[in-house]
Amino acid sequence: MDMKKLAGDKAAEYVKDGMVVGLGTGSTAYHMVNAVGEMVKNGLKIQAIPTSKATEAQARELGIPLLTIDELDHVDLAIDGVDEIDPQFNAIKGGGGALYREKVVATLAKEVIWIMDESKLVERLGAFPFPVETVPFGMPFVKRRIADMGAVPILRMGDGKSYLTDSGNFILDVQFAENTDISQAAEQIRDMPGVVETGYFGQMCSRIAAGTSSGVKVMENPHRAV
Ligand code: A5P
Repeated sequence: MDMKKLAGDKAAEYVKDGMVVGLGTGSTAYHMVNAVGEMVKNGLKIQAIPTSKATEAQARELGIPLLTIDELDHVDLAIDGVDEIDPQFNAIKGGGGALYREKVVATLAKEVIWIMDESKLVERLGAFPFPVETVPFGMPFVKRRIADMGAVPILRMGDGKSYLTDSGNFILDVQFAENTDISQAAEQIRDMPGVVETGYFGQMCSRIAAGTSSGVKVMENPHRAV
């Protein structure tokens, strides 16, 4: 049983006719996009905004009608994966490099569902390297300031070169010292000139769908009731 597929398929059930839907990025969101594509083939009428070029290509292939970010004025429902999520529904995202677009789409959305396999459910955020998207100009300066916080920032690489996001930016993957308050650290980093966005997604979802070895579990966030 594929736990990511369980979660993706479950979340797709919340997509209804007439919605503008934010389509997430990554291996869990991939299953959700496939499920939504199947629903569109069977007559579902939606418009969607993809959070990455990869998801855009997948959605196009499946015939899901797409909008650009400039064309839409609202998003009804965004569904996306996470790298870690704590019991208070705070998440770290951006392992796949799409954090900036994911943050824009989730912020615009009336409702957000995070999907994951059970390995992403953690007691405390911080084991996963914390992604920070930064413009190329001044990146070493951001890196030094993050190191000054007692953390270890590492420039993400891909194919032997600095990894570039869909918006042409770099990513620093940051390992914080144990017991760092990630929400506070994220705020501090976000204020640094050159930082576009961080992978901290605090209190953004109204529910999560987690694939587990005993089936899919949907949990509602009491602080963000729909
Ligand atoms: C993409 O930038 C990320 O935020 C992903 O949503 C996150 O990394 C989860 O990816 P997987 O579902 O592939 O684990």
